[in-house]
Amino acid sequence: MHVMAGLLRDADGRVLLAQRPPGKHLAGMWEFPGGKREPGETPLAALARELREELGVTLQHAEPLVALPWNYGGHELLLDAWRVEAWIGEPRPLEGQALQWQLPALVDMAILTPADRPILQTLIEACSAA
Ligand code: C5P
Repeated sequence: MHVMAGLLRDADGRVLLAQRPPGKHLAGMWEFPGGKREPGETPLAALARELREELGVTLQHAEPLVALPWNYGGHELLLDAWRVEAWIGEPRPLEGQALQWQLPALVDMAILTPADRPILQTLIEACSAA
């Protein structure tokens, strides 16, 4: 499955994390907002839809960061992470999920869903190279 993830940064450079709601796979863990691409959708359209559904924001501009495969024991996914450079609206937790903004270097890797850990590492390296 192809899963989109959006990395939104605020003016202080903090990145937005969402907590997976109870009852879902990896409930309680934190991830970059996103979700599954539907058949026929482009990656960017899927990312825009997920951000609208989960956070109520309108995607204006995003750039691909990295796409990494992950295998959750028989359940394989490609986690396709994009830097969301511009959006309209204030992110709101429309699906009952908690949200937090955190500096990438201060995020405790242990709270993240495993597939998102190498994505965060890539973001940290990209920020320090910039
Ligand atoms: O959110 P949803 O359940 O549709 O996500 C599909 C799969 O992608 C789940 O296994 C979820 O853990 C994974 N995922 C992830 N990191 C994200 C978004 C989703 O590992 N940022």
